[in-house]
Amino acid sequence: MTAANNAISIERSLNKKTKPAQDQLGFGIYFTDHMFVMDYSVEREWHNPRITPYQPIVLDPAAKVFHYGQTIFEGLKAYKTEDGGIQLFRPRDNFARMNRSNDRMSVPELDIDVAIAALEQLIAVDQDWIPDLPGTSLYIRPFVIATQATLGVSPSENYQFIIIMSPVGAYYPEGINPVKIHVESHYVRAVVGGVGEAKTAGNYAAALKSQQAAKEEGYTQVLWLDGTQHKYIEEVGSMNVFFKINGTVVTPALNGSILAGITRNSVIQLLKHWDVPVEERVLSIEELYEAGRNGTLEEAFGTGTAAVISPIGEMNWNGEKLVISEGVTGQLSKSIYDTLTGIQTGAVADPFGWVKKV
Ligand code: COI
Repeated sequence: MTAANNAISIERSLNKKTKPAQDQLGFGIYFTDHMFVMDYSVEREWHNPRITPYQPIVLDPAAKVFHYGQTIFEGLKAYKTEDGGIQLFRPRDNFARMNRSNDRMSVPELDIDVAIAALEQLIAVDQDWIPDLPGTSLYIRPFVIATQATLGVSPSENYQFIIIMSPVGAYYPEGINPVKIHVESHYVRAVVGGVGEAKTAGNYAAALKSQQAAKEEGYTQVLWLDGTQHKYIEEVGSMNVFFKINGTVVTPALNGSILAGITRNSVIQLLKHWDVPVEERVLSIEELYEAGRNGTLEEAFGTGTAAVISPIGEMNWNGEKLVISEGVTGQLSKSIYDTLTGIQTGAVADPFGWVKKV
C-alpha cells in the first residue's frame, strides 16, 4: 500500500457501549467501540483502511479461512501511564512476527508502519477504553483471515486484516498466583518444520483436547514436549516457560516449533541486564524433574503478552507431581513481573527502548 492510498477513513459508533468495571474484566470478554479493517486483493494489494464501529464481519461460507485455516493473529497491549499517557509495548516486534507468521501461512506481507499507524489511530479513537487499575491493560488482537470464497486448496487471493481491542485483567483465573501445569505425554502441539512458531489458529485448536483433559484434573494449562521424542520441553501454548535451576535461568531454545515470544525475549534481555545467568538450550523433562527431586529447581514461570509473568507452582508428568517454590510466587518471578509491568506502565524507566508512546 502506498502513502497515497493509505488514508484511514473513520466511521464513529453512534451507540457507545457501557464499560465494564475494571476489577471484573477477565480476559477477552469485552470489546471496545471500534475496530480497524483493511482489505487485500491481488489487483489492489492492501487497500481501503478503515475504522468502523465494532461489528460482526460478513463472510461467504466458502471463505478459505473456514476450511483450510489460512489465518494468523497477534497479541499486544496498550497501557495507561500514571500521568494519563498511553504507551504500547514493542509493537514493531509484534508486527514483524506477524509478517513471519504471514510468510509461513502464505498470507501477503503487511507494511509494518501502516499497521502501527492504523493501531495508533484506533487507540486514539477508543482511548477511554484503556483501563488503569494495576494489573489491567488494553489487549490488542490484530489478525488476518483468508476471505476468497473458493474450495480449492490454494493460497487465498483475498484477505482482511482486522484489529480488535479488549480491556483485560489477568489471563488465568488464578490471577497473579501460581498456575498448575499438566505435562502432555501423548499428544503434541507442533513438530520442527511445521507451523509451531507461527501464530496461527490451528496450533491453538490442536491444543484444546489436552487442555480440556488437564482442566478436568485441576490443571490450568498443558506443557508441551517436543513432537518427535516427547522428551524435550517446548512451551505452554499461551506462554513460553522458564525454570531457575541452581541459580541459572533456563528456557527452551527456539527451534522452529516454539513461538518466539516477545515477553520471552524481554525477560531474557532483562535477566542479562541484571547479570542473572540465563541459558536458551534444550531442556528435557527428565532433567527438570531430576532438579525438582534433588531440590535444585528453585522457580518456574511462564511468559506471554496475555499471561505476562505467571509463576508455575505445580507440575504433573505421568502422575508424578512436582511442587515448585513451595507453590508460591518465587522472588525472581516477582521481580521480573514488577519490573516488566513497571516498564510497560511507565512506572519504571525503560533502558531497552521497548516502549512506544502513542
Ligand atoms: C498472547 O499472549 O497474546 C497470546 O496470543 C496467547 C493467547 C491468549 C492465545
